[in-house]
Amino acid sequence: MAYVIGVDLGTSGTKTVLFDEKGTVIASATVEYPLYQPKNGYAEQEPTDWYNAAVSTIKTVLSKSGVNAADIAGLGISGQMHGLVMLDENNEVIRRSIIWCDQRTEKEVEEMNEKLGREKLIEITANPALTGWTAAKILWVRNNEPENYAKCRHILLPKDYVRFMLTGDYATEVSDASGMQLLDVPHRCWSKEVCDALDIDMAMLPKVYESCEVTGTISKAAAELTGLKEGTIVVGGAGDNAAAAVGTGVVTDGKAFTTIGTSGVVFAHTSNISIDPKGRVHTCCAAVPGAWHIMGVTQAAGLSLRWFRDNFCGDEISTAKLMDVDTYEIMTAEAQTVPIGSERLLYLPYLMGERTPHLDPNARGMFFGLSAIHTKKHLLRAVMEGVSYSLRDCVEICREMGINVSDMMACGGGGTSPLWRQMLADLYGCPVKTAASKEGPALGVAILAMVGAGIYKSVPEACAAIVKVDKTQQPIAENIPEYEKFYKLYTKIYPSVKENCAELAAL
Ligand code: XUL
Repeated sequence: MAYVIGVDLGTSGTKTVLFDEKGTVIASATVEYPLYQPKNGYAEQEPTDWYNAAVSTIKTVLSKSGVNAADIAGLGISGQMHGLVMLDENNEVIRRSIIWCDQRTEKEVEEMNEKLGREKLIEITANPALTGWTAAKILWVRNNEPENYAKCRHILLPKDYVRFMLTGDYATEVSDASGMQLLDVPHRCWSKEVCDALDIDMAMLPKVYESCEVTGTISKAAAELTGLKEGTIVVGGAGDNAAAAVGTGVVTDGKAFTTIGTSGVVFAHTSNISIDPKGRVHTCCAAVPGAWHIMGVTQAAGLSLRWFRDNFCGDEISTAKLMDVDTYEIMTAEAQTVPIGSERLLYLPYLMGERTPHLDPNARGMFFGLSAIHTKKHLLRAVMEGVSYSLRDCVEICREMGINVSDMMACGGGGTSPLWRQMLADLYGCPVKTAASKEGPALGVAILAMVGAGIYKSVPEACAAIVKVDKTQQPIAENIPEYEKFYKLYTKIYPSVKENCAELAAL
């Protein structure tokens, strides 16, 4: 029996899972790390925290499982996208990574539009200039920290930094590279035109592979630290969403998934490239060679509920400890006692600005309709509903682009909540399913490693053999019109306060 390892480098922590070739979990380990927010709208992490977490979790799964390192056929890494890691000539990290949810680059987005033109940028990179994406962050460092920029020799994405530390190769792959805004997405290679216009030296960029291609092997030094065998293959891996797509079998036309992790994503596979001319959803290369995906992103999905838990749910946290259950279970049970619409209370989840559909870093969260009858459980349900409305916004745009989203999988921490899945089924008007394996991105990159190692011939063939559906939740007919009323109102609130959000940001 062959085994593979999937490393999932997330925002709250890194989870590493060791699978057998049938996709069965043999051992898993997670290490958390901090998120630094030095200013409102800033978000940074320490690349060495990611690497240390990868080393320690790989070491743990190997020792827990008792699997011989020589039987590990390959390793894949899934990563939070868009983060900027800069290395100097000695391969030292120059500054903390500015990560995906950081919103400091409004001026640099304007600069990109001026230098390239919005339409040209959409034509080549398949997306409009975005504050959270890597190119704008590179320009921000150049504009604000010229001394750091001058030292920069290599630019890497979060998971590609960990790959570099494990293998010594400067490499990336098409799905994550799509989120740098320097890739020619239709042609799956770096764009000289974009790099030249932005004056970014292409020599700083890593080599681009397809996600299931082998990019290198575990170095002697990394083998000593992790317990892996020197020479174990490492495949391209994927950005977390493209990886989750593989892990949930969303690798053929018609299939889609919704993730409720820190951010929320609606992801639809397509074998024909399709670009939203308004730039409200992202088009990226899929982890399946020759395919793309459309992705709508809500910045603060699970983050909204975590924020609510950490600031207002001290009692629930204590009760959960006493009962030895997850705090979210207690919170969801409370939300379940409140009717649809939370007694006329709406929540807009824009705690970190918003991408789909508003593309506005100044958007901010709000409760709308607060009255004296509302209690904590109403706010709690409103948070879950508001996140679901923002995910429905993403589905609306995919449907507008003619993409079929009728076969929906749910994943991420929030996807494990039956209440949240029912909200999605009722709001999307289609069944929402879960995969039997809960390891979405880690399984996805493990599958890519299996393909890279030659255990399966193609990504769809591997998914057909490995990914199984578990639960299916059908929409409840009488809930649909109830949610619809509140969703319609929800879509009207932000446009009417957009100007005020900008004013607030300028104060
Ligand atoms: C996708 C995105 C997030 C991050 C963090 O564009 O920004 O999904 O990858 O998970």
